Amino acid sequence: MVGARPNFMKVAPVMRALSTRPLVRQVLVHTGQHYDANMSGIFFQQLGLPEPDINLGVGSGSHAWQTAQIMIQFENVLSQRRPDLVLVYGDVNSTAAAALVCAKLLVPVGHVEAGLRSGDRTMPEEINRLVTDQLADLLFTPSADGDANLVREGVDPAKIFRVGNVMIDTLVRLLPAAQTSDVVSRLDMTRAGYGLVTMHRPANVDDPERLHDLMVALNAISRDVPLIFPVHPRTRQRLQDAGGLSAGLHLVEPLGYLDFLALEAQAAFAITDSGGVQEETTYLAVPCLTVRANTERPVTISLGTNLLVGHDMERLRAAVATILSGGWKTGQVPPLWDGCAGERIAQQVAGDA
Ligand code: UD1
Ligand code: UDP
Repeated sequence: MVGARPNFMKVAPVMRALSTRPLVRQVLVHTGQHYDANMSGIFFQQLGLPEPDINLGVGSGSHAWQTAQIMIQFENVLSQRRPDLVLVYGDVNSTAAAALVCAKLLVPVGHVEAGLRSGDRTMPEEINRLVTDQLADLLFTPSADGDANLVREGVDPAKIFRVGNVMIDTLVRLLPAAQTSDVVSRLDMTRAGYGLVTMHRPANVDDPERLHDLMVALNAISRDVPLIFPVHPRTRQRLQDAGGLSAGLHLVEPLGYLDFLALEAQAAFAITDSGGVQEETTYLAVPCLTVRANTERPVTISLGTNLLVGHDMERLRAAVATILSGGWKTGQVPPLWDGCAGERIAQQVAGDA
């Protein structure tokens, strides 16, 4: 069960691993939470995912509306198909909605990327994580902090499996293909001489003052080093509403996975509020500046290349200067971020662990 862009990178390795088990029959359900070709379809092609067996076509709306639509339609699917297990991914509305439906219909549910906590309940994703993990029967965690969070919240340790990071599985598999992309020259960026920006959290882009300050800071940074900014549809709308904030910046449409990964791997640094980008930059040893006050992925700070700059734009600019002067930590890859997490999940699911 998937719905939004980051889900696709996570489901791909699990489906591949399960496809080698002849006794397992898989049905791929897409809620349609994301639906633009460059937010959904392109990932199915590039990641080698099968077409979804069922697309609920839910689309955009308020949190309650979107969650409710997914629940109503997914309930029909589950009632008809009666699967032995549903796997849900990450922390988007589709994840929590599907877990709730499963729990009410007594269908076992496994949560891939369980246990992550920012401790910040103003984030919709934190609510989705808390709900999903309370309801899940199998909890697949990417790192030790995930296990500790779950145990602290009273989850039975027998249900927790530390399997590593599925998003990194996809990166490991597709990095060689990404390295053949010509996106860096196509977008006029020079190797090792540009920064990559992504921004889509409501706390950053839905608050006009924050968005304004951020865009002013990015414009200032881009006078020292080129920035490339693939713009998420939420952010595109907010920038249109605000008008004129992006004058000096190199904005492009959301990119497909291979182009994005190519840009990320060769970037001098990333400025982001994305969960996945914090992880991928840690794996790639690319310095990452996260424009948030907290992260549900602390291992990217303790072991990796990530730094939280909060919403302090002076701090952001100072950190970029430090990176450009060569003073950044190289970090290390966290344990079990090794390309085999999907296989470990398949072993548990198929009962051959
Ligand atoms: C969602 C997730 C967020 C995740 C992000 C990944 C929730 C609560 N949020 O945020 O955790 O980090 O996806 O990208 O589930 N839109 C389009 N085309 C699309 C999809 C969306 O134009 O294909 C526009 C719509 O105007 C929509 C807005 O983007 O209202 C936001 O989409 P939505 O899925 O509600 O939340 P995201 O901000 O994408
Ligand atoms: N990504 C992409 N194209 C883009 C921006 C991001 O392919 O233009 C990929 C990125 O490599 C990572 C994932 O999308 O694998 C992260 O998704 P996103 O930032 O939308 O969501 P989050 O991880 O914050 O939930």
